Amino acid sequence: MSTERTFSIIKPDATRRNLTGAVTAKLEEAGLRVVASKRIHMSKEQAEGFYGVHRERPFFNDLVSFMISGPVVVQVLEGENAVLKNREVMGATNPANADAGTIRKEFAESIEANSVHGSDSAENAAIEIAFFFKPEEIVG
Ligand code: CMP
Repeated sequence: MSTERTFSIIKPDATRRNLTGAVTAKLEEAGLRVVASKRIHMSKEQAEGFYGVHRERPFFNDLVSFMISGPVVVQVLEGENAVLKNREVMGATNPANADAGTIRKEFAESIEANSVHGSDSAENAAIEIAFFFKPEEIVG
């Protein structure tokens, strides 16, 4: 067990429905600590850059349009095994496959409007955190 950091986005479907606090409560209940947080409206260039690994996927353009359709809350989460813990509390990408009690089961509208993003590895977490935060914006 080790303390690590992961990166989270509360997506436009959740901010639109005023669920920022409800989603954050789930993260905190799971033992994750919010050590950085800001509400932003991503530019098209930012969203395309952030999701660059998905550029060739058929859903890429729709994903980018959705992510810039409203404000998001980008966060750095810290805790024991934070990457795995966050993935567990988020639930499966498709809410139809998500376990009871997970964020996506309770809040997500669809596989695209699935309320949250979370890093899939510690390595990608470091890249994603650096995409949105300066070191001095993270206060553990
Ligand atoms: P996220 O963890 O943010 O990473 C990529 C996103 O693409 C994913 O969550 C989904 O919201 C979105 N997406 C839309 N359609 C699909 C799909 N068919 N398969 C996987 N991800 C999809």
